Amino acid sequence: MSGTIVVGAQWGDEGKGKFVDILSPFFKYVVRYQGGNNAGHTICLEGRTVVLHLIPSGILNPHTICMLGSGVVIDPQVLLGEIEALQASGVDVSPARLWVSPEAHIITTELKQLDLLREQQEKIGTTGRGIGPTYEAKVARRGLRAESIPALKPYLRPEMRRVLFETQEPILFEGAQGTMLDVDHGTYPYVTSSNTIAGGACASTGVGPTRIKEVIGVVKAYTTRVGNGPFPTEQDNQIGALLRERGAEYGATTGRARRCGWLDIHQLRYAQMINGFTSLAILKLDILSGLEAIQVGYRDSVDAPVCGSPVLYKTFPGWQGDIRGAKSFSDLPLNCQQYLNWISDELQCPIGYIGVGPQRYQGFFQHGK
Ligand code: IMP
Repeated sequence: MSGTIVVGAQWGDEGKGKFVDILSPFFKYVVRYQGGNNAGHTICLEGRTVVLHLIPSGILNPHTICMLGSGVVIDPQVLLGEIEALQASGVDVSPARLWVSPEAHIITTELKQLDLLREQQEKIGTTGRGIGPTYEAKVARRGLRAESIPALKPYLRPEMRRVLFETQEPILFEGAQGTMLDVDHGTYPYVTSSNTIAGGACASTGVGPTRIKEVIGVVKAYTTRVGNGPFPTEQDNQIGALLRERGAEYGATTGRARRCGWLDIHQLRYAQMINGFTSLAILKLDILSGLEAIQVGYRDSVDAPVCGSPVLYKTFPGWQGDIRGAKSFSDLPLNCQQYLNWISDELQCPIGYIGVGPQRYQGFFQHGK
C-alpha cells in the first residue's frame, strides 16, 4: 500500500474537510489519526452543507471505508449522533464502512466537565469537548477505551492494523487541527493535546513510516486561528474583519469567530520543516480576490522563532474579478499566479491543488505536482 497524509499547515481550519472529500474517490481507506470532536469539517455538497466532527469526510464517497485510528478520542454520543444524522441524509454509515479502533480512547462526561472547569482558569480557548483531559487520562494509563463501550461494538475492528498493513490499496490519513496546534511543535501551551503533524499519523495508527509516500500540506491562502495564543500575522482590524466575513470564518464546532490575518511564510516554512510536505493544497484563494494589495509576513532571519520575533511584510499586488470558475492555473489572473508561484518557490514545494470556492467543483489539481 501507499499512504498519503493530509495535514493542516497552519492553525487548523485550512479546508482539510473539503480537500479530503475531493481526494477520497482515489482512496479505498480514509483514516482519521488524532483529535476528536474538537474538529469540524464543513463540506458543501449539492444544495446542502454537512459538518462532520469525527467521521472522516471520506464517508461521503460511497466506495471509501473510513477508520478512526487508535490515536483518536471518541465521545460515543457524538459519534452515534453523527452516524444517525448522516444516515438520515442518505449516506451509508454501516459498520462495513466505518471502522473504529478498539484502542481509541473515550471522552466521558466527567472529562468534558473537567475541560470546561479548567478552561475557566487556564484560558487556552479549548473547544470544551473534553479533548485535553481524555489524552491526559490516556497517557496516565487510566483511560477508558472504545473496546469497553457496548454501543460501539458493531464498529470495532481489531483487525484494522493488519488490514492497513496488508492492503495493496492506497490509504489516506486525515489529520485534524493543524501543525501549530501540535502538542510538541505548536504554540504550547496554546495547543491541542495530540500530535497533529504528519508524523502523528504513523504513531497514532500503527502504520510504519516506510509506507508513507506523500504528505500534502493544506494551506489557507491567508491565516486564521480560533482560541487563544500567539498569532504573529493577525490583523485585528478592518482587513481581519473583511477576511472573516468573506471567508465565513466562524468555527464549525463552537461557532466562535476566528481570528484572521495574512499568510505567514515563515510559519509555513516551519510547517514544511516539520511535516516534510511533498506538495501543497492551497485553499480559499477566492477570498483574496478584489483586494488592492495582499501582504505576507516573514522574518529577518531563517532561525527567528515563529512567535516572538518581529514580523516584516512583503506586499503583493492584488487581483480583481471572480476566480471561482478557474479550471487551470492559466485561468487565474497574473497577480494571483505570481502570489502562488512565490509561495511555492519559498517553500520549495509544488502546489498540487488550488481551491477557488467552497463547492466540490470549485478547484483544480495541477497534475504532475
Ligand atoms: P482543544 O483541542 O479543545 O483542547 O483546544 C485546544 C486549542 O486547539 C484551542 O485553541 C482550540 O480552539 C484549538 N482547536 C481545537 N480543534 C480545532 C480545530 O479543529 N480547528 C481549529 N482550532 C482547533
